[in-house]
Amino acid sequence: MDTYAIEVSGIHKRYGGVRALTNVSLKIRANEIHAIVGENGAGKSTLMKILSGAVIRDSGNIAIFGKPADITNPITSRALGIGIIYQEFSLAPDLTVAENIFLGDLNDGRSRLLVPFKDLFRKAKLILDRLGFSVDPHRLVGTLPVAYQQVVEIAKALSRDARILILDEPTAVLTDQETEKLFAVLSGLKAAGTSIIYISHRLEEVFRISDRISIMKDGELVTTRQTGDLDKNQVITHMTGREFATLFPKREKIEIGEEILRVENLAAQNGVHDITLKLHRGEILGLSGLIGSGRTEFARSLFGLDRVTHGDIYLKGQKTVIRSVDDAKRNRIGLIPEDRKRQGLTLNMSILNNMTMANIAGILRYALLIDRKRERARGEKFVDSLRIKVGGLDNPVSSLSGGNQQKVVVAKWLNTESEILIFDEPTRGVDVGAKYEIYQLMNSLAERGYGIILISSELAEVVGMSDRVAVFNEGTVAGELEGVAVTETEIMRLAIPVSNHHLGG
Ligand SMILES: Nc1ncnc2c1ncn2[C@@H]1O[C@H](COP(=O)(O)OP(=O)(O)OP(=O)(O)O)[C@@H](O)[C@H]1O
Ligand SMILES: [Mg+2]
Repeated sequence: MDTYAIEVSGIHKRYGGVRALTNVSLKIRANEIHAIVGENGAGKSTLMKILSGAVIRDSGNIAIFGKPADITNPITSRALGIGIIYQEFSLAPDLTVAENIFLGDLNDGRSRLLVPFKDLFRKAKLILDRLGFSVDPHRLVGTLPVAYQQVVEIAKALSRDARILILDEPTAVLTDQETEKLFAVLSGLKAAGTSIIYISHRLEEVFRISDRISIMKDGELVTTRQTGDLDKNQVITHMTGREFATLFPKREKIEIGEEILRVENLAAQNGVHDITLKLHRGEILGLSGLIGSGRTEFARSLFGLDRVTHGDIYLKGQKTVIRSVDDAKRNRIGLIPEDRKRQGLTLNMSILNNMTMANIAGILRYALLIDRKRERARGEKFVDSLRIKVGGLDNPVSSLSGGNQQKVVVAKWLNTESEILIFDEPTRGVDVGAKYEIYQLMNSLAERGYGIILISSELAEVVGMSDRVAVFNEGTVAGELEGVAVTETEIMRLAIPVSNHHLGG
């Protein structure tokens, strides 16, 4: 008889009225990379949290390496050799990288004061080096860009020598290059005998790295297959119950209109410099580049979050100074930020309030009276058009699955009167169906004369959606591509810092 690393059977879990999991049974082999895919809200994270002890199942059985295991808290899970990288970061922003990596261990009885700190930093550095990422173990996690925070999450799980490693959307914030490094680490772990559960909305990745794929839909397990026996379309159809002819919807009409934004020789305190670019009505301008190349920093300067130190911004031909977010909003610039947890959402507020928060004016009836009916109607419209899976509009945003939280952020900014909309990684953690909805929405906004800036680390997305692409490299625009010249190869050629060219193939 086969012994499985994990065998769950008949798992049920409800959150109040929401059925998150219904009768889920699944076997994970020792020594395999097992991918789990499914739409936003399908129940993937809930199942993983049950295995990690963060959530308790209502019923059902779990066996780990053939032995029945009653996982009721994170400590029992960890003792069984299960390590998890959560979809939503679980790091302490005010502690250093090294402390975060060993945080769980610090809490295991010993006082923080008694920890041999030198040792801690040395060990942290070893793990980070092994992963191939240069992150300073002394830095406070809260000051790191999200991609590096993810690296810390991964390092934290690896520091515990887990026999079973669960990764819930580990690459959502990583670029292709960083993803490659992670894959190399995972292959090494698998060769050394670790079982890996890998959750991702990026199907290319899933096909590349997994041995088997399990597909979930509406809290149930649809099927488990050998990866080689499936193709991408079949997976999408199982996940969504729909078929997609293409992943990037075409725009009905592309009519590039008058110039809506022009930036000349812009430099900002955050390090971007010599940026000159233009955006027209009806246009989708992609910003590509590696993590840290300055894309997000540019967006932040334009949105009044970081101080502009040099250069000019023209809005509809008018020279405009933007010193604050209020200035930006007044000038009809909207930013859908990449870090939804810190900048995009107020987690303990209701879904409805989060959606309407950016545009109180739009729902005010008399001076300070919020028109509740109007607010609710708008909220319902978004839930519908973006297919947001909610129990109710009054539930806290924290009760939503990761991808559905992202859709609420998008809804929030669509609910304003902006004319220039900056989407920073809008489809991070969003399933294929919802991605398609967000793309369609961007297209229809462009058709209606908005100017759209799309920042994305997913090359296929930038190529598939942009009319024009500005490639960032070391804080400035290294080049622009337009029309048929917009290809992944050309973008990468411009994106790689000159000093690193010899490293590439
Ligand atoms: N703490 C909670 N309170 C109430 N409902 C919840 C809670 N956590 C999850 N849910 C609900 O359970 C269902 C499954 O959510 P889960 O997070 O497992 O989905 P997922 O497959 O991981 O989705 P995603 O791809 O968006 O991360 C969703 O309908 C979600 O809204
Ligand atoms: Mg999830």
